[in-house]
Amino acid sequence: MRPSSVHYFDDAADLARALARELGASARPITVHRFPDGESRVRVVPGSGRSAVMIRRLDDPNPKLFELLLAADALRQSGVRQIALIAPYLPYMRQDRSFEPGESVSQRVLADLLGRVVDRVVTLEPHLHRIHDLAEVFACPTIAIPAAPLLAAWCRGRGSRTLIVGPDEESAPWTRAVADRAGLPFVVGRKQRVGDRKVRVTLPGLPPVDRAVLIDDIASTGQTLAAAARELKRAGIRQIDAAVVHAIFAKGAAATLRRAGVRRIVSCDSVVHPTNAIATAKALASAIRGPASRPPRRSER
Ligand code: R5P
Repeated sequence: MRPSSVHYFDDAADLARALARELGASARPITVHRFPDGESRVRVVPGSGRSAVMIRRLDDPNPKLFELLLAADALRQSGVRQIALIAPYLPYMRQDRSFEPGESVSQRVLADLLGRVVDRVVTLEPHLHRIHDLAEVFACPTIAIPAAPLLAAWCRGRGSRTLIVGPDEESAPWTRAVADRAGLPFVVGRKQRVGDRKVRVTLPGLPPVDRAVLIDDIASTGQTLAAAARELKRAGIRQIDAAVVHAIFAKGAAATLRRAGVRRIVSCDSVVHPTNAIATAKALASAIRGPASRPPRRSER
Protein backbone atom coordinates (compact mmCIF):
# COMPACT_ATOMS: atom_id res chain seq x y z
CA MET A 1 0.00 0.00 0.00
CA ARG A 2 1.27 3.52 -0.81
CA PRO A 3 -0.85 5.90 1.30
CA SER A 4 -0.54 9.63 0.67
CA SER A 5 -1.76 10.65 4.13
CA VAL A 6 -1.64 9.45 7.72
CA HIS A 7 -4.66 10.59 9.74
CA TYR A 8 -4.22 10.58 13.48
CA PHE A 9 -6.14 11.15 16.67
CA ASP A 10 -4.30 13.18 19.27
CA ASP A 11 -3.36 10.02 21.23
CA ALA A 12 -1.05 8.98 18.37
CA ALA A 13 0.38 12.29 17.07
CA ASP A 14 4.00 11.29 17.76
CA LEU A 15 3.68 7.91 16.08
CA ALA A 16 1.79 9.38 13.12
CA ARG A 17 4.46 11.98 12.41
CA ALA A 18 7.25 9.41 12.58
CA LEU A 19 5.24 7.05 10.38
CA ALA A 20 4.42 9.77 7.84
CA ARG A 21 8.13 10.57 7.58
CA GLU A 22 8.90 6.89 6.97
CA LEU A 23 6.18 6.61 4.32
CA GLY A 24 6.78 9.97 2.64
CA ALA A 25 3.13 10.84 3.38
CA SER A 26 1.52 13.84 5.04
CA ALA A 27 0.38 13.65 8.69
CA ARG A 28 -3.11 15.07 9.20
CA PRO A 29 -4.90 15.49 12.53
CA ILE A 30 -8.38 14.16 13.23
CA THR A 31 -10.07 16.55 15.61
CA VAL A 32 -12.73 15.49 18.06
CA HIS A 33 -15.29 17.79 19.65
CA ARG A 34 -17.22 16.42 22.60
CA PHE A 35 -20.75 17.79 22.95
CA PRO A 36 -22.21 18.34 26.42
CA ASP A 37 -24.42 15.26 25.96
CA GLY A 38 -21.34 13.05 25.52
CA GLU A 39 -21.60 12.65 21.74
CA SER A 40 -18.52 13.29 19.59
CA ARG A 41 -18.06 15.22 16.37
CA VAL A 42 -15.07 14.08 14.37
CA ARG A 43 -13.42 16.09 11.60
CA VAL A 44 -10.69 14.92 9.22
CA VAL A 45 -8.39 17.01 7.04
CA PRO A 46 -8.70 15.33 3.64
CA GLY A 47 -5.51 14.08 1.98
CA SER A 48 -4.79 14.18 -1.73
CA GLY A 49 -4.90 10.46 -2.53
CA ARG A 50 -7.32 7.55 -2.51
CA SER A 51 -5.53 5.46 0.04
CA ALA A 52 -4.92 6.59 3.60
CA VAL A 53 -3.71 5.36 6.94
CA MET A 54 -5.68 6.07 10.09
CA ILE A 55 -3.89 5.56 13.38
CA ARG A 56 -5.23 5.40 16.91
CA ARG A 57 -3.89 3.88 20.10
CA LEU A 58 -6.75 1.74 21.32
CA ASP A 59 -6.03 1.38 25.02
CA ASP A 60 -9.13 2.61 26.88
CA PRO A 61 -11.00 1.31 23.81
CA ASN A 62 -14.68 1.92 24.48
CA PRO A 63 -14.85 5.69 23.93
CA LYS A 64 -12.20 5.56 21.20
CA LEU A 65 -13.81 2.95 19.00
CA PHE A 66 -16.94 4.87 18.10
CA GLU A 67 -14.90 7.93 17.12
CA LEU A 68 -12.85 5.66 14.90
CA LEU A 69 -16.02 4.64 13.06
CA LEU A 70 -16.96 8.29 12.60
CA ALA A 71 -13.48 9.13 11.27
CA ALA A 72 -13.55 6.22 8.81
CA ASP A 73 -16.86 7.51 7.50
CA ALA A 74 -15.47 11.05 7.20
CA LEU A 75 -12.48 9.75 5.22
CA ARG A 76 -14.79 7.84 2.86
CA GLN A 77 -16.89 11.00 2.41
CA SER A 78 -13.71 12.84 1.44
CA GLY A 79 -13.03 10.35 -1.37
CA VAL A 80 -10.66 7.86 0.29
CA ARG A 81 -11.18 4.38 -1.15
CA GLN A 82 -8.71 2.35 0.86
CA ILE A 83 -8.23 2.83 4.61
CA ALA A 84 -5.55 0.99 6.57
CA LEU A 85 -6.17 1.21 10.30
CA ILE A 86 -3.09 1.07 12.50
CA ALA A 87 -4.08 0.10 16.01
CA PRO A 88 -0.66 -0.57 17.58
CA TYR A 89 -2.47 -2.17 20.51
CA LEU A 90 -5.51 -4.21 19.50
CA PRO A 91 -7.92 -4.50 22.43
CA TYR A 92 -10.49 -7.21 23.20
CA MET A 93 -8.26 -10.01 21.94
CA ARG A 94 -8.16 -11.94 25.22
CA GLN A 95 -11.88 -12.84 25.24
CA ASP A 96 -11.60 -15.23 22.32
CA ARG A 97 -14.37 -17.49 23.51
CA SER A 98 -17.32 -17.41 25.81
CA PHE A 99 -15.70 -18.36 29.11
CA GLU A 100 -18.97 -18.38 31.07
CA PRO A 101 -22.52 -18.84 29.77
CA GLY A 102 -24.00 -15.51 28.72
CA GLU A 103 -20.69 -13.84 27.74
CA SER A 104 -19.95 -12.46 24.27
CA VAL A 105 -16.87 -13.38 22.25
CA SER A 106 -15.38 -9.88 22.33
CA GLN A 107 -12.56 -10.71 19.91
CA ARG A 108 -15.02 -11.65 17.17
CA VAL A 109 -17.24 -8.62 17.85
CA LEU A 110 -14.28 -6.24 17.50
CA ALA A 111 -13.07 -8.00 14.35
CA ASP A 112 -16.54 -7.79 12.75
CA LEU A 113 -16.83 -4.12 13.62
CA LEU A 114 -13.45 -3.03 12.27
CA GLY A 115 -13.71 -5.29 9.21
CA ARG A 116 -16.83 -3.39 8.14
CA VAL A 117 -15.26 0.06 8.12
CA VAL A 118 -11.61 -0.31 7.12
CA ASP A 119 -9.81 -2.26 4.39
CA ARG A 120 -6.82 -3.41 6.38
CA VAL A 121 -5.87 -3.65 10.05
CA VAL A 122 -2.26 -3.40 11.17
CA THR A 123 -1.25 -4.08 14.74
CA LEU A 124 1.68 -5.10 16.89
CA GLU A 125 1.79 -8.49 18.65
CA PRO A 126 -1.93 -9.03 19.23
CA HIS A 127 -2.73 -11.30 22.17
CA LEU A 128 -3.76 -14.47 20.35
CA HIS A 129 -4.33 -17.62 22.32
CA ARG A 130 -6.78 -20.08 20.83
CA ILE A 131 -6.50 -18.64 17.31
CA HIS A 132 -3.15 -18.28 15.60
CA ASP A 133 -3.80 -15.69 12.92
CA LEU A 134 -6.01 -12.60 12.90
CA ALA A 135 -7.22 -13.77 9.47
CA GLU A 136 -9.23 -16.43 11.35
CA VAL A 137 -11.54 -13.74 12.77
CA PHE A 138 -11.16 -10.62 10.61
CA ALA A 139 -13.03 -10.28 7.33
CA CYS A 140 -10.50 -7.75 6.01
CA PRO A 141 -6.75 -8.30 5.43
CA THR A 142 -4.63 -7.96 8.56
CA ILE A 143 -0.99 -7.60 9.50
CA ALA A 144 0.23 -8.63 12.94
CA ILE A 145 3.76 -7.33 13.39
CA PRO A 146 5.78 -9.62 15.67
CA ALA A 147 7.29 -7.81 18.64
CA ALA A 148 10.05 -10.39 19.20
CA PRO A 149 12.64 -8.61 16.97
CA LEU A 150 11.99 -5.30 18.77
CA LEU A 151 12.26 -6.80 22.25
CA ALA A 152 15.25 -8.94 21.25
CA ALA A 153 17.16 -5.86 20.11
CA TRP A 154 16.69 -4.34 23.57
CA CYS A 155 17.52 -7.60 25.41
CA ARG A 156 20.71 -8.07 23.36
CA GLY A 157 22.11 -4.93 24.96
CA ARG A 158 21.78 -6.39 28.49
CA GLY A 159 24.89 -8.59 28.29
CA SER A 160 25.55 -12.27 27.63
CA ARG A 161 24.77 -13.62 31.15
CA THR A 162 21.14 -12.53 30.88
CA LEU A 163 18.23 -14.93 31.17
CA ILE A 164 15.02 -14.25 29.22
CA VAL A 165 11.98 -15.24 31.27
CA GLY A 166 8.45 -15.75 29.97
CA PRO A 167 5.99 -15.85 32.90
CA ASP A 168 3.54 -18.38 31.48
CA GLU A 169 2.99 -21.10 28.88
CA GLU A 170 1.20 -18.66 26.55
CA SER A 171 4.36 -16.60 26.29
CA ALA A 172 6.50 -19.63 25.34
CA PRO A 173 6.66 -19.22 21.52
CA TRP A 174 7.67 -15.63 21.56
CA THR A 175 9.88 -15.90 24.67
CA ARG A 176 11.81 -18.45 22.61
CA ALA A 177 11.77 -16.10 19.58
CA VAL A 178 13.15 -13.19 21.66
CA ALA A 179 15.83 -15.37 23.27
CA ASP A 180 16.90 -16.96 19.97
CA ARG A 181 17.21 -13.59 18.26
CA ALA A 182 19.10 -12.13 21.20
CA GLY A 183 21.32 -15.25 21.50
CA LEU A 184 20.39 -15.64 25.20
CA PRO A 185 19.10 -18.54 27.35
CA PHE A 186 15.43 -18.61 28.35
CA VAL A 187 12.94 -20.27 30.67
CA VAL A 188 9.16 -20.22 30.73
CA GLY A 189 7.07 -20.32 33.91
CA ARG A 190 3.65 -21.72 34.71
CA LYS A 191 0.92 -19.35 35.76
CA GLN A 192 -2.20 -19.91 37.75
CA ARG A 193 -4.64 -17.01 37.77
CA VAL A 194 -6.57 -16.89 41.02
CA GLY A 195 -8.46 -13.61 40.29
CA ASP A 196 -8.22 -10.37 38.27
CA ARG A 197 -5.44 -9.17 40.55
CA LYS A 198 -3.95 -12.38 41.90
CA VAL A 199 -1.71 -14.83 40.07
CA ARG A 200 0.82 -17.48 41.02
CA VAL A 201 3.85 -18.20 38.88
CA THR A 202 6.26 -21.09 39.25
CA LEU A 203 9.57 -21.25 37.40
CA PRO A 204 11.68 -24.27 36.40
CA GLY A 205 15.34 -24.61 37.52
CA LEU A 206 17.40 -21.64 36.36
CA PRO A 207 20.81 -21.67 34.63
CA PRO A 208 23.62 -19.63 36.24
CA VAL A 209 23.12 -16.01 35.10
CA ASP A 210 23.76 -12.49 36.41
CA ARG A 211 20.44 -10.96 35.52
CA ALA A 212 17.01 -11.68 34.09
CA VAL A 213 14.67 -9.86 31.73
CA LEU A 214 11.02 -10.74 32.18
CA ILE A 215 9.02 -10.37 29.01
CA ASP A 216 5.28 -10.30 28.36
CA ASP A 217 2.96 -9.08 25.65
CA ILE A 218 0.67 -7.17 28.02
CA ALA A 219 1.24 -5.81 31.49
CA SER A 220 -2.11 -4.85 32.94
CA THR A 221 -2.24 -5.10 36.73
CA GLY A 222 1.44 -6.10 36.67
CA GLN A 223 0.65 -9.13 38.85
CA THR A 224 1.92 -11.70 36.34
CA LEU A 225 5.33 -10.08 36.04
CA ALA A 226 5.48 -9.31 39.76
CA ALA A 227 4.80 -12.95 40.67
CA ALA A 228 7.52 -14.08 38.26
CA ALA A 229 9.93 -11.45 39.64
CA ARG A 230 9.37 -12.72 43.20
CA GLU A 231 10.25 -16.24 42.02
CA LEU A 232 13.43 -14.96 40.36
CA LYS A 233 14.41 -13.16 43.55
CA ARG A 234 13.74 -16.31 45.55
CA ALA A 235 16.08 -18.15 43.15
CA GLY A 236 18.82 -15.63 43.95
CA ILE A 237 18.70 -13.37 40.89
CA ARG A 238 19.32 -9.79 42.01
CA GLN A 239 19.04 -7.82 38.77
CA ILE A 240 15.59 -8.13 37.28
CA ASP A 241 14.27 -5.99 34.41
CA ALA A 242 11.02 -6.25 32.48
CA ALA A 243 10.33 -5.61 28.80
CA VAL A 244 6.69 -5.58 27.74
CA VAL A 245 5.01 -4.94 24.43
CA HIS A 246 1.81 -3.19 25.49
CA ALA A 247 2.12 -1.15 28.70
CA ILE A 248 -1.53 -1.04 29.67
CA PHE A 249 -0.46 -0.65 33.30
CA ALA A 250 -3.58 -0.27 35.39
CA LYS A 251 -3.23 2.11 38.35
CA GLY A 252 -0.53 0.92 40.74
CA ALA A 253 0.95 -1.66 38.35
CA ALA A 254 4.39 -0.04 38.04
CA ALA A 255 4.61 0.23 41.84
CA THR A 256 3.63 -3.44 42.15
CA LEU A 257 6.52 -4.37 39.85
CA ARG A 258 9.02 -2.23 41.73
CA ARG A 259 7.92 -3.72 45.07
CA ALA A 260 8.48 -7.18 43.58
CA GLY A 261 12.07 -6.20 42.80
CA VAL A 262 11.89 -5.18 39.13
CA ARG A 263 14.58 -2.59 38.58
CA ARG A 264 13.89 -1.28 35.10
CA ILE A 265 10.71 -1.56 33.02
CA VAL A 266 10.67 -0.83 29.29
CA SER A 267 7.85 -1.05 26.77
CA CYS A 268 7.05 -0.55 23.11
CA ASP A 269 5.32 2.75 22.28
CA SER A 270 2.04 1.05 21.26
CA VAL A 271 0.46 2.48 24.42
CA VAL A 272 1.73 5.81 25.77
CA HIS A 273 3.50 5.20 29.09
CA PRO A 274 6.57 6.57 30.91
CA THR A 275 8.26 3.19 30.30
CA ASN A 276 8.16 3.60 26.47
CA ALA A 277 11.67 2.89 25.18
CA ILE A 278 11.15 0.75 22.07
CA ALA A 279 9.99 2.65 18.98
CA THR A 280 7.60 0.95 16.57
CA ALA A 281 7.25 3.50 13.72
CA LYS A 282 9.72 1.77 11.36
CA ALA A 283 8.08 -1.63 11.84
CA LEU A 284 4.62 -0.10 11.31
CA ALA A 285 5.78 1.65 8.12
CA SER A 286 7.25 -1.48 6.60
CA ALA A 287 4.05 -3.39 7.44
CA ILE A 288 2.01 -0.75 5.60
CA ARG A 289 4.25 -1.10 2.54
CA GLY A 290 4.09 -4.92 2.60
CA PRO A 291 1.39 -7.51 1.82
CA ALA A 292 -1.35 -8.34 4.32
CA SER A 293 -2.62 -11.69 5.54
CA ARG A 294 -5.93 -12.29 3.74
CA PRO A 295 -8.92 -13.88 5.45
CA PRO A 296 -9.90 -17.32 4.10
CA ARG A 297 -12.65 -17.28 1.46
CA ARG A 298 -16.14 -17.80 2.91
CA SER A 299 -16.25 -21.39 1.63
CA GLU A 300 -13.02 -22.16 3.59
CA ARG A 301 -14.25 -20.75 6.91
C1 R5P B 1 -2.09 -13.00 29.61
O1 R5P B 1 -2.37 -14.04 29.20
C2 R5P B 1 -1.09 -12.02 29.09
O2 R5P B 1 -0.11 -12.59 28.29
C3 R5P B 1 -0.49 -11.26 30.23
O3 R5P B 1 0.34 -12.14 30.98
C4 R5P B 1 -1.54 -10.71 31.14
O4 R5P B 1 -2.48 -10.01 30.40
C5 R5P B 1 -0.91 -9.81 32.17
O5 R5P B 1 -1.90 -9.32 33.00
P1 R5P B 1 -1.55 -8.74 34.44
O6 R5P B 1 -0.50 -7.69 34.26
O7 R5P B 1 -2.87 -8.18 34.92
O8 R5P B 1 -1.11 -9.88 35.29
